[in-house]
Amino acid sequence: MTTQSLIETLPKAELHIHIEGSLEPEMMLALAERNGLEAPYASVEAARTAYAFGSLQDFLDLYYRGMAVLQSEEDFFDLASAYLERAAADGVTRAEIFFDPQAHTERGIAFETLLDGLTRALAAAEKQHGLSGALILCFLRHLDEADALKTFEAALPHRDRILGVGLDSSEVGYPPERFKRVFRWAADEGFRLVAHAGEEGPPDYVWQAIDLLGVERIDHGIRALEDPALVKRLAEDEIPLTVCPLSNVRLCAVESLAVHPLKRMLDAGLVATVNSDDPAYFGGYLNDNAIQSADALGLSEEQVATLLRNSLDASFADEAWRTKALADFDKKRAELDKKRAASAD
Ligand code: ADE
Ligand code: ZN
Repeated sequence: MTTQSLIETLPKAELHIHIEGSLEPEMMLALAERNGLEAPYASVEAARTAYAFGSLQDFLDLYYRGMAVLQSEEDFFDLASAYLERAAADGVTRAEIFFDPQAHTERGIAFETLLDGLTRALAAAEKQHGLSGALILCFLRHLDEADALKTFEAALPHRDRILGVGLDSSEVGYPPERFKRVFRWAADEGFRLVAHAGEEGPPDYVWQAIDLLGVERIDHGIRALEDPALVKRLAEDEIPLTVCPLSNVRLCAVESLAVHPLKRMLDAGLVATVNSDDPAYFGGYLNDNAIQSADALGLSEEQVATLLRNSLDASFADEAWRTKALADFDKKRAELDKKRAASAD
């Protein structure tokens, strides 16, 4: 069994996907036409050519521009349905999906419009593929906390459809400590907590996310490895990291996959997972991320299986779902081993 077929065959969770970052250029142009808007790019090829980034901010500028074609509930439904279809094909059995409401409400789109479209797509994917899905509302950190508080207030009546809150967008210069109050409020209301930290920002931002915001997972966290005390803390407390290797390379946070910290994270005993971040912009979905990273870093089969198993264990699905998912994973792996042993005889 090759590493590729192991990755393709085993079940897995995606814990770091921005739904707006799954907007493929083909759909972007089709939605621009459907909504009578000027297309952000002259062609699909022109879009792909423009997707050359020197930093997170370079990407974010195009990310916000591209998502402006999303207008109606149907648009959000189509966007999420396309992602979920693709995820199911990758063997994703659980997807915890980030969305950026402020990037839409500030364009005059009602919170309910986008939430209705996204939740309708999740319900359809559950029915069609048995894929368990959930939504995590991300606050844009380049806006101030007052805006985040207002957004959370608008989200509260829909709490049954939102699993958690996160923190994303431009990182350096926007430390987690600025969002203490809104995270405290979300925790009090029973929301699960995550935050992007240590993508471009320093290890101190990861400390802040853990100690001041109380997050249960760190999104990216690659710069945590610069601080041995932080690595120790993440390992001891088993705080999962949702790592996105192709994203890190495309945004120049890491020079190449061959030197990506993912292997060092595993060697240090961290609970790392592999995810796609913004697959329409970075050239790969979950399995592409896992396969290319495993190849470039020479990950062992055991390490690959650990990454995928971690994703199920680190998910915010309820205990019963996780217990069954882990048992199914172990069973599938044992079957694959048995098959291989039989074919080697
Ligand atoms: N929003 C979408 N993708 C992001 C990323 N990689 N980092 C921060 N904010 C984001
Ligand atoms: Zn992200």
